[in-house]
Amino acid sequence: MMRKTVNILIGLFLIVLSGSIWAAPSVIIIETQNIGLVYKTKDNGRLYQSYLGQKFQNREEYNRLPTEASEAYIPSGTTNLFEPAIQMLHNDGNPSLDLIFTKSETTSVDENITSTTIWLKDPVYPVEVALHFWAYRNEDIIKTWTEITHHEKNPVLLSRFASSVIHVSSTQYWLSQFHGDWASEVRMEENKLTSGIKVIDSKLGTRENMYQTPMFFLSCDKLSDEVSGELIAGTLAWSGNFQLLFEVDKNNSLRIISGMNPFASEYKLKPDEKLITPEFIFTYSNNGRGDVSRNFHRWARNYGILDGTQPRMTLLNNWEATGFNFDEKKLTSMFADAANLGVDLFLLDDGWFANKYQRNDDESGLGDWQENKEKLPSGLGYLVKEAKKQGVKFGIWIEPEMVNPKSELYEKHPDWILKLPNRDETYFRHQLVLDLTNPEVQDFVFGIVDGIMIKNSGVAYIKWDCNRMITSGYSPYLGDNQSHLYINYVRAFYSVMERIRQKYPHLPIMLCSGGGGRTDYGALKYFTEFWPSDNTDPLERIYIQWGYSYFFPAFAVCSHVTSWGDQYLKYKIDVAMMGKMGFDIDLDKLTERDRNFAVDAVRQYDQIKDVIWSGDLYRLVSPYHENRAVLMYVDDQKSNAVVFSYTTYRRYKEEFPRVRLQGLSPEKAYRVDEIDLYPGTQSKLEGNGQVFSGDYLMQKGLRIDPKGAMNSKVFTLTQINN
Ligand code: GLA
Repeated sequence: MMRKTVNILIGLFLIVLSGSIWAAPSVIIIETQNIGLVYKTKDNGRLYQSYLGQKFQNREEYNRLPTEASEAYIPSGTTNLFEPAIQMLHNDGNPSLDLIFTKSETTSVDENITSTTIWLKDPVYPVEVALHFWAYRNEDIIKTWTEITHHEKNPVLLSRFASSVIHVSSTQYWLSQFHGDWASEVRMEENKLTSGIKVIDSKLGTRENMYQTPMFFLSCDKLSDEVSGELIAGTLAWSGNFQLLFEVDKNNSLRIISGMNPFASEYKLKPDEKLITPEFIFTYSNNGRGDVSRNFHRWARNYGILDGTQPRMTLLNNWEATGFNFDEKKLTSMFADAANLGVDLFLLDDGWFANKYQRNDDESGLGDWQENKEKLPSGLGYLVKEAKKQGVKFGIWIEPEMVNPKSELYEKHPDWILKLPNRDETYFRHQLVLDLTNPEVQDFVFGIVDGIMIKNSGVAYIKWDCNRMITSGYSPYLGDNQSHLYINYVRAFYSVMERIRQKYPHLPIMLCSGGGGRTDYGALKYFTEFWPSDNTDPLERIYIQWGYSYFFPAFAVCSHVTSWGDQYLKYKIDVAMMGKMGFDIDLDKLTERDRNFAVDAVRQYDQIKDVIWSGDLYRLVSPYHENRAVLMYVDDQKSNAVVFSYTTYRRYKEEFPRVRLQGLSPEKAYRVDEIDLYPGTQSKLEGNGQVFSGDYLMQKGLRIDPKGAMNSKVFTLTQINN
């Protein structure tokens, strides 16, 4: 109650300060628990960012900040000589924009979120830009986006429309970026930025994460590590073409401009229409990247990912086990496997649909969403019931945005497909992309999910795939507005998801895109988890899951045990346990010993999954620095923790140093217990079964990887009550 009143008072104070009453405020303060972001106006009426960093202890001192030459949202065509945030062609052919501060407003959305809006206006042309900021106090996250509108007679042409501009001033800038390809997603690379422009972007239309990932760390002065260094971590919530641009200018100042990629996307903005840009989500810390990851994880749980505080389901998937080659008998036997294994759900993958052009490989049938009568004569409803009888839930794979040319859908609706007139179709995985900008196609896509749910009551999970990017992109629906395709496609995707969520608000849906082609907070509002990569070799997965862990919490990162990789089963399971564990393996092909081991592992995972899914993550040893990876999760009360350690390579006689644990309470006593051991094996973990203070574990640490073969370990720390 007390806190609410204080918030209201602060809110009122801010409204006064920020100029709803005074026409020209000098300071606009955006704060979270630890971060301060400050804007100021100058006498010329323009708005400048004057601070981003650790929040000041005394708010009054923000008034003393000098106004730097760092315009908050840089327009093009007047005096700007570097990369602009916005570029506009007016009705009369004037290619310039000037933005003058008009007002700002700060309100409390709730006890945790403060919303600040700053309005800018061109003094000559009727154009308005609103800069929005939501500050999440407890999570230390700021979400920002921009709205652009105008009242000219005819559409204006926008050729740049950034979500956000951030100015940074430091001696050196180090960029950590993530990139890859199919089966090699989110490889981290770190470089010093030099004078000029560095762009990380996607022009793939869909699958924005396939080559470049829309997330980054920007470290100041020196490269940050897990526990030290000043850095900004940012990501764009957009499932299409994005651009993250870093420009170091002649004074060694840095501007970070993020938003939709302007590439091939000139936008004709109609009078009074609002162009709402995607959200750029960022955080700042002076204590290294462990901190910024935990900020993102907390934010994702509470706001970023659908039902982020709710439990997830463990599952058995059939893709790696059967491919397209299955029938009812095989599937029902796998339901029994899933039940014996102890997982919650069986997930039926690709290949269950299409009749005229059967889906027995990826060359045909995509788009024809009727059960294949040969493989599934009794239909999906039967499978749902059978699964239930055997004690597991049933989930299903779809790829609703795509079509094979060999399909009935293609024959019936050639006008529903993105393809160029007068040119040959171009394929990827033998398929084309549907024209989702067309409302009829949106109805069709919605209808695929809706149809499955209506016809087969009890379907408990969906895996939504998207296996290709857009090439030869041309929308028969958009007519003269082809340059809106990339933007409208993503908007249409979100609007379909919006409809699905209105009707099925809590249905768990996995976001998949030919591996991890779509893993962004724009889509994750509608999804409960994502598929990080088709590469499930556990060694590769250590790096891939490590990369995603910088921005995404463990419960969202689906990590399956498969036949990829030649490591023994324990290693595979230990790697899957660090995320949301699942299996995609033919259990019949395992030895009895391994099958029993897997059953035990699921049981043990059930004991520790809460700590993994909702605890704080501490990355202790990076696989980028040593031939091993060590990380741990600690629960809120600091009473339970789980530590994972994986050797990635071991030189002859190599002995790894001790590892100091983190995040524990120094005063508490913890018992160390190695789990997930093959029956009959003795733990070689130093201190196994013994009790240590959190202080000892954090100061002296443990020798986790004794000499020996490539291995992996999972151990728990349990607070001892005394
Ligand atoms: C994509 C997905 C896989 C699987 C196949 C099915 O590649 O990433 O997990 O679902 O499609 O065709």
